[in-house]
Amino acid sequence: MILVTGGAGFIGANFVLGWLAVHDEPVVNLDKLTYAGNLETLRPLQDDLRHVFVQGDIGDGALVAGLLARHQPRAIVNFAAESHVDRATSSPENFVQTNIVGTFRLLEAARQYWGTLATEARSGFRFLQVSTDEVYGSLVPTAAAFSETHAYQPNNPYSASKAAGDHLVRAYHHTHGLPVLTTNCSNNHGPFQFPEKLIPLVIGNALAGKPLPVYGDGLHIRDWLYVGDHCRAIECVLESGTPGESYNVGASSEKTNIDVVESVCALLDELRPRAQGSYREQIAFVQDRPGHDRRYAIAARKLMMELGWKPAETFETGLRKTVQWYLDHPDWVNYVQSGAYKEWVQLQYRETAA
Ligand code: NAD
Ligand code: DAU
Repeated sequence: MILVTGGAGFIGANFVLGWLAVHDEPVVNLDKLTYAGNLETLRPLQDDLRHVFVQGDIGDGALVAGLLARHQPRAIVNFAAESHVDRATSSPENFVQTNIVGTFRLLEAARQYWGTLATEARSGFRFLQVSTDEVYGSLVPTAAAFSETHAYQPNNPYSASKAAGDHLVRAYHHTHGLPVLTTNCSNNHGPFQFPEKLIPLVIGNALAGKPLPVYGDGLHIRDWLYVGDHCRAIECVLESGTPGESYNVGASSEKTNIDVVESVCALLDELRPRAQGSYREQIAFVQDRPGHDRRYAIAARKLMMELGWKPAETFETGLRKTVQWYLDHPDWVNYVQSGAYKEWVQLQYRETAA
């Protein structure tokens, strides 16, 4: 079996659902269930014996050690993180705790468990760190896209905390020989993304008749990837990547934020038209994010050439799927944002953490 952390969040849950749709290999899913983790997303797996959900913190070394000893996974895939850049500006503490201290404790538990394995299991074991393109910093308009050898130059507390976690992962390979893999992916969109991130926020606000907030001049550039393509890349790296190596993941889909927001508006105009006019009329330029990185762009040549991965979706086909999914799932959006959900989780899971 494999141990997935953060598997009730956006990408982790897409990964777990996708994994169990095509593999019989069970998944132990360790998630703290912060505001960003939602069991509602995993509801299709509630009677599936291949999915063992545990509410808990990757920073709880005793809990993680117990899970590793009990379930004997062949791999750990670490999605668990505080992930929202704007929250890291106002409340960085959780980012340091989870993305740095938590990653350290997870690595330490993995190292000790790995040391107990027999030779074959030891050489087959993998620790995959799911990271981000943000650790590379910001690009000027004419610069080449980030390659895996680009220096880490994080510019905000979120990316700095991810970079620190990645450095620990690298060090555990170099110092202890732990078979680690790191993926650095660009911006994802798709089903189950918490509606604080740009694309689901814009969809929700558009439908509610609210302003669509675009930071600064709207000309900041992100490189977009459909979440299913990210999940397949992680599987590909897990099975075929070389321990100690990093792999960039992206689809060469650079867009300015205003282009993204206008594309969402155009899809909504087609799929759920307003009574009058276009959703574009709701666009509002607002104060910029402090320390806002101007441009990210990912070169995924290594993953494509060495491991044979390629994205299935273009920006246009993927965005259509994303917008359609949010139109079809208003209940999910309402549920994950409601206080009632949090109260239920507390009652339901207080006793069951392993
Ligand atoms: P998310 O915020 O949607 O989900 C994070 C999950 O981790 C949640 O379920 C949360 O409950 C859980 N979690 C948080 N702290 C925890 C802890 N201490 N112990 C256990 N679980 C904890 O994030 P996401 O967008 O799904 O991102 C997943 C990973 O992918 C992150 O590491 C992020 O840095 C990386 N990433 C995200 C993107 C993106 O565009 N969203 C792109 C590249 C990389
Ligand atoms: O690049 C990968 C990163 O992508 C991941 O590591 C992060 O976990 C993930 O959250 C995402 O970070 P961003 O900051 O790029 O994503 P976000 O959706 O918050 O913002 C995308 C862009 O849109 C960014 O340039 C800021 C801008 N934006 C965002 C919001 C929420 C706006 O203009 N208005 C908004 O209201």
